[in-house]
Amino acid sequence: MTRTILSGCSGRMGQVISRMIAQRQDMAIVCGFDVNASTDEAFPVYANPKDCTEQADVLIDFSNAAALDALLSYCMDKKLPLVLCTTGFSEAQLTALDEAAREIPIFRSGNMSVGINVVMDLIRRTASLLGDDFDVEIMERHHKKKLDAPSGTALMLADAAAEGLPHKSEYIFERESRRQERNAEEIGISAIRGGTIVGEHTVIFAGHDEVIEITHKAYSREIFAKGALNAARYLAGKAAGHYNMSNMLSE
Ligand SMILES: NC(=O)c1ccc[n+]([C@@H]2O[C@H](COP(=O)([O-])OP(=O)(O)OC[C@H]3O[C@@H](n4cnc5c(N)ncnc54)[C@H](O)[C@@H]3O)[C@@H](O)[C@H]2O)c1
Repeated sequence: MTRTILSGCSGRMGQVISRMIAQRQDMAIVCGFDVNASTDEAFPVYANPKDCTEQADVLIDFSNAAALDALLSYCMDKKLPLVLCTTGFSEAQLTALDEAAREIPIFRSGNMSVGINVVMDLIRRTASLLGDDFDVEIMERHHKKKLDAPSGTALMLADAAAEGLPHKSEYIFERESRRQERNAEEIGISAIRGGTIVGEHTVIFAGHDEVIEITHKAYSREIFAKGALNAARYLAGKAAGHYNMSNMLSE
């Protein structure tokens, strides 16, 4: 039985995770963390991790980048493995994560679906095959309530393309202030927000007279929740360090 703390338990992803764990025999939620505690949860919810007294094997976080400092102190104090699914971290927070990963195992992915992780591999290979002859642009669409832009997934896809390209890449997030021709080093990233779109990402390779588009569409939040639960089971008992979807998929 994997005893789990769920951070962000009152949110959209938190609710999906709660429902999925309630149907499993091998996992249980011992408590939740959320600044916005709901009264009808089947487990205790703490606004401040310091108030939590429950014992756990792993913590899954789908909350907000602002929660990271408190979560890292809590997990390091308890030597608790952390599955970090929240997106939108600052450079300083990424450095703090590197330091924490020397003491605890941290699984982090801006997208926990199996599909997008296969797409990342395709993007890396496509970029390396096409090289300088094709311009790379990324478009992402999400629901109107998403706070960060561009999505963590769009950045992961940009990184995958950059790894495959023969030159150093420059990410361009807006073109309004740039009245100039596009150069080959650019990877443009555009964010669209509206309605209830769960998450769509398209990587465009635009060449002379031909265009390749690779698209991933998420139709439900369950694909991310399922990946997070698999990651939690995978991480419990692992040594300190960074882990990601490709580590898990290749084991
Ligand atoms: N990695 C993935 O596959 C994946 C998939 C979907 C969403 N996400 C990310 O997960 C996060 C949550 O997404 P969501 O759609 O469930 O958002 P949401 O806004 O519906 O839920 C976030 C929850 O976190 C709580 N919260 C906010 N600030 C907090 C803090 N400082 N401390 C504790 N709790 C806090 C909120 O009260 C809310 O209940 C976002 O960063 C989103 O981008 C990642």
